[in-house]
Amino acid sequence: MVQFLVEFDENQIEEQYRDYLKQVRPMTGAGIVKILSKTCSFIDEDKCYLEVGTYRGSTLIAASLNNPNLICFGVDNFEGHNPPECCHPFETIEEGLQDAIARLTNGNVKYFKSDYRKFFRGIDSVDGKKVEVYLYDGSHTIEDQYWGLKLATQVLADEAIVFVDDSFMDDGPAVWSAINQILSEDERFSLIREFSPEAYKAHGDLWCGFVALRFSNKSEAHNV
Ligand SMILES: C[S@@+](CC[C@H](N)C(=O)[O-])C[C@H]1O[C@@H](n2cnc3c(N)ncnc32)[C@H](O)[C@@H]1O
Repeated sequence: MVQFLVEFDENQIEEQYRDYLKQVRPMTGAGIVKILSKTCSFIDEDKCYLEVGTYRGSTLIAASLNNPNLICFGVDNFEGHNPPECCHPFETIEEGLQDAIARLTNGNVKYFKSDYRKFFRGIDSVDGKKVEVYLYDGSHTIEDQYWGLKLATQVLADEAIVFVDDSFMDDGPAVWSAINQILSEDERFSLIREFSPEAYKAHGDLWCGFVALRFSNKSEAHNV
């Protein structure tokens, strides 16, 4: 997975990933859809994908795209301010997520309605599975960014990829502050790369920056 991410070419985004975004309420771009779908294709059978911050599912379902046997879990408390236009044509964001899961997946995508801190309390796996790919896309305060990474370590596989969204533009400083804190205090984490904002902007994608970290309990992790 690490090598795939190092070599990933942001200028090659096939039409299928843009087509997918037409079927959901996107809060992400086709490049991130491709990164998630492809990275998750490497997940072992006994491991899973986990994401905090599902909203209406555009990244959660992207992880399952072309990966029909992969179990993908999402966590969201649905407590943000969501005006009617965000929920449309449903009453709530959660109903929008349920609809997208029903239309676009085969039962392999599930979500927990929970605050992420409560969700992580006392668990060391999700439904018995360790997490091989994790995405944090919840609240972007420095504190939440930090704890969204820190608490997730309990459920991560010995080798895992951790993605963090929104590392660019308005939320970038808070996102990077938390990432840098984690990198400096937990040697199991190392930076793989930040995907180039310029490439995505050139392609007209919804893009707020995307960072890939490696999590490894093995000592060579820092040699990425
Ligand atoms: C930017 S949206 C996620 C977008 C989604 N990943 C996508 O690409 O479609 C952020 C989500 O984080 C959720 N969130 C914020 N704080 C949270 C918390 N403390 N626990 C769980 N979810 C939270 C919000 O309800 C919101 O749906």
